[in-house]
Amino acid sequence: MASSVVPVISIDRNGAKPVHRQIYDSYREAIMQGNLRPGQKIPSTRLFAVELGVSRYPVIEAYAQLVAEGYFESRVGAATIVSQDFPDRFTTAAPALVKESLNSPSSRVSARRTALVGQLRASQWTRGLGAFGVGQVAYDQFPLQVWSRLVARRTRKMNVRSFHYGEQMGSIMLRQTVANYLRTARSVHCEPEQIMIVSGSQQAIAITARVLLDPESSIWIEEPGYRFGADVFTLAGCNLVPVPVDKEGINVSEGIRRDRMARAALVTPSHQFPLGFTMSAARRLQLLTWAQDHGAWILEDDYDSEYRYESLPIPSLQGMDAHGRVIYIGTFSKVLFPSLRLGYLVIPKDLIEFFLKTRHAMDLAPPTFYQDVVSDFIAEGHFERHIRRMRLLYRERRSLLVDSISEEFGEAVEIDGSEAGMHLVVSFKTSIDDRSVAERAGQQNLWVWPLTASYLKTPEKTGFILGFGSTASSDIPVAVRTLKKLVKEAPSRPIAI
Ligand SMILES: Cc1ncc(COP(=O)(O)O)c(C=O)c1O
Repeated sequence: MASSVVPVISIDRNGAKPVHRQIYDSYREAIMQGNLRPGQKIPSTRLFAVELGVSRYPVIEAYAQLVAEGYFESRVGAATIVSQDFPDRFTTAAPALVKESLNSPSSRVSARRTALVGQLRASQWTRGLGAFGVGQVAYDQFPLQVWSRLVARRTRKMNVRSFHYGEQMGSIMLRQTVANYLRTARSVHCEPEQIMIVSGSQQAIAITARVLLDPESSIWIEEPGYRFGADVFTLAGCNLVPVPVDKEGINVSEGIRRDRMARAALVTPSHQFPLGFTMSAARRLQLLTWAQDHGAWILEDDYDSEYRYESLPIPSLQGMDAHGRVIYIGTFSKVLFPSLRLGYLVIPKDLIEFFLKTRHAMDLAPPTFYQDVVSDFIAEGHFERHIRRMRLLYRERRSLLVDSISEEFGEAVEIDGSEAGMHLVVSFKTSIDDRSVAERAGQQNLWVWPLTASYLKTPEKTGFILGFGSTASSDIPVAVRTLKKLVKEAPSRPIAI
């Protein structure tokens, strides 16, 4: 079939050059500049003439000339294409672009932006699908039949309203469902009007940063902590203050010592990322008191608290806050799947207007369709059922992983954070070069995250964050043995980043 995409070709009907020549020249130039590539389909002469508003004759004449000179290939019964034989070096980058690409992007973007983007930590170990990928769920266990039935039903029900922009805060049905769920399961104090549906925790953090922080504002970041969250504040030009974490969670006294006047703290109280500790009641009170006394904000990232294996879920920090200092952030990435890009914020009532205007400037409104599907999924009881099933499955995978690590690594390692969630941390008593191991592990389809990459400053421990959500029980022992082999081959060296 011919392409129905018409290349940008301008024709001057009153110009001195005949129309067929203008068409010929434009196509030739588009091919030479690489805007049209070898093998690419060309619109039929009929469609092209209609789009250009000219008669078909000059188009036929120009096409014939381009075929004759080898720019186009045309075969009977098939679409005309840009000649496959055309040498690539003539059809890629246009001369002007070649010249520009000699300059680095940093010469075209401000020095400040270049420096900020340079600090972001995109890393190869977060990319692959395979054993130990952090944040990956048991995709093969997702109730796809139910899901596709709900998707089909919602598609059939689409009406004029479904095609237009949705509500800026998110669909009221989902916000009511989320509010009910958070009050019951997470002891969050909230009403549906405080819930804003967003594109995952990442957007929740990004919107919050825009509302509450100025460039140069200080924010406490857990050390080690969630780097993707920290990246938002780096990009916003904030001053990131690493605050160490111990078994009781973020060390508030140390935070106060390092920067008492910080504007905010990004924390994971239910299941510290990555080390897995639960913030103690004493620390929670201390953190809330600091925030209240200094007018600071607490961003509570409650990303996986549905999965606890040794105890009941821990109530949220937001539920203990009497002064509206906590912004609560939740996500469907772990309990459903990450490509949904659905999460939510619980906003203190007096800030709703600020959040609403800020979100509107960023993306107008969240997409409606999957909000409705998720609402149905929850309302019909599939969500609860799915979480219950996954809890059992992840518990089994976690036990197997702990056993395999103990068997292979024995006393050489410590395991943290296995009581909850979908990942654990294995750290080495003698430091190793975890980044180079992680890089080589990726080549064997093991997607461990090096622990040192979770530190802003000098790492205290080396090791790996291992996700077990998507790793089948039968694959775990082999994967751990492979990891052991890679660690053995790696030179041990002092911790440094
Ligand atoms: C600490 C933490 N927060 C949030 C998320 C989820 O982010 P999102 O909701 O943007 O997918 C993850 C995913 O791994 C995480 O580890």
